[in-house]
Amino acid sequence: MKNAIVTGASNGIGLEISKKLSENDYHVGMIDVDKENLFKESENISNSVAIEGDVTNEDSIKNALDIFNKTPDLIVNNAGIVIFGGLEEQSIEDFKKSVDVSLIGSYLVSRLAITSMIKKNSGCIINMSSINGVHPGPGTGGYPPAKAGIVSLTQQMSIEWGPYGIRTNSIAPGFIDAGMSKPIYAVNKVRELRGNAVPIKKLGEAEDIANAVLFLASDNASYINGHNLVVDGGVINSVLGQLPRD
Ligand SMILES: NC(=O)c1ccc[n+]([C@@H]2O[C@H](COP(=O)([O-])OP(=O)(O)OC[C@H]3O[C@@H](n4cnc5c(N)ncnc54)[C@H](O)[C@@H]3O)[C@@H](O)[C@H]2O)c1
Repeated sequence: MKNAIVTGASNGIGLEISKKLSENDYHVGMIDVDKENLFKESENISNSVAIEGDVTNEDSIKNALDIFNKTPDLIVNNAGIVIFGGLEEQSIEDFKKSVDVSLIGSYLVSRLAITSMIKKNSGCIINMSSINGVHPGPGTGGYPPAKAGIVSLTQQMSIEWGPYGIRTNSIAPGFIDAGMSKPIYAVNKVRELRGNAVPIKKLGEAEDIANAVLFLASDNASYINGHNLVVDGGVINSVLGQLPRD
């Protein structure tokens, strides 16, 4: 059995990733700042341990890794937040929060776990970006820059830690009907419009992202390092296809 750490594991995509990993021979350290939900949800995931942890706080993650007490074979840096609002109205604090959780949090967790992984000379890191990190959506403050930063951080980790047998990749989910996007797609009209905007005519599910995690962590991806895997049904390539034509 392999050992995995998943951050932001109490809800949405992170919860589905934890479930998928536990079903595929991983012991999963589920880390989240939302203690109540985490402990409740982890009860349904076999081979898991729920560990309260805040990816913006070094002491909190040191403590979480101490509790896990195993060298991770896999780290999934999935925790992320979006704070909506135009750039001209967003507070500096809110902008910083998005960057702190997604981008710096991914570095912090990896930084604290990497020494033992380097000693083991193997491992895998998967950082959660977004299609916002490739093409920014309006009104999402520091979220797109944080997610674009994750693509670059992933490339940097891949070249610095590749020589130690550690592969690092990122995933850029598209329109996923889960977690932070659930309230958006609860509105039928939005659901229909967005689903139709995707070339394969449907929204994605948390399981689509969990499947991508499983693939990137597997030996089938053993030569993939520093890649940003866009999992979006083709939506970010469809701009020209959607232009009005007479
Ligand atoms: N749902 C989508 O459509 C979508 C699309 C693209 C990318 N993503 C990315 O996927 C990841 C998961 O998103 P989701 O949709 O499941 O959202 P979600 O809000 O359901 O999950 C995020 C989790 O992160 C946790 N979290 C927040 N701050 C934290 C902190 N400081 N320390 C530890 N945990 C913290 C939350 O408690 C929550 O459980 C995020 O990185 C998000 O940006 C989601």
